[in-house]
Amino acid sequence: MTPRTTAILSALAEEQQGLLERLQQPRRVTRAGRDFWLGDLHGQPVVLALSRIGKVAAATTATTLIEAFGVQRLVFTGVAGGVGPDVRVGDVVVASEFVQHDMDASPIFPRYQIPLYDRERFACDVDLSALLSGAVRAGGYTLHQGLIASGDRFVSAAEESRLLQEALAAAGHAPLAVEMEGAAVAQVCFDYGIPFAAMRTISDRADDTAHVDFPKFVTEVASRYALAIIEEFVRGLNTMHPT
Ligand code: ADE
Repeated sequence: MTPRTTAILSALAEEQQGLLERLQQPRRVTRAGRDFWLGDLHGQPVVLALSRIGKVAAATTATTLIEAFGVQRLVFTGVAGGVGPDVRVGDVVVASEFVQHDMDASPIFPRYQIPLYDRERFACDVDLSALLSGAVRAGGYTLHQGLIASGDRFVSAAEESRLLQEALAAAGHAPLAVEMEGAAVAQVCFDYGIPFAAMRTISDRADDTAHVDFPKFVTEVASRYALAIIEEFVRGLNTMHPT
């Protein structure tokens, strides 16, 4: 059977570090000004990459993973601001779908609709997301599954978060979390027909203390979460896709 390579896209270097230390036969390849790490993780061929920050940077990384490295599935790990009513710092959200909260080509297209795609949301792969959710549960973390909103903005004020959620709700969108890359990667994976799953550890509540909570959480906690969950996920891939 041809090995099916999995891309593991991390938002933060801290999240990638543990995976990199466990990578067997690591080989670094540079493309598009980015480092890609090829190797085996628990018997699965993987490529590790950093998404960088924001929708365009993440889309470039995802496209390179697909075009230059031929990955056949993509999983994303990062942190996010919790906006769902009971989504707390330290919880984990596995995305079912993504919306871009800063997409607005109205009145030409309805607000939030991605022009020429005739849709407002991109869905994640059901099987891959179920595997990821199982890995989150196995670690004993509090899991939420649902919509995530992405945009090129770090949401760092309660009022800003309220307005953003109010506008989304008016169009029928109730996100659990906000971040800056997922919807772009979901769109690229949709374009290529590549299964995609994403998890976000909640680092802050996207409110007035977000700028303090975020760096503290990133250095102290996020890396441990990502490593434990992704290792369990990759072990699960061995059952789903034996090499
Ligand atoms: N990632 C983590 N926290 C975030 C926030 N508050 N806004 C956008 N992206 C984030």
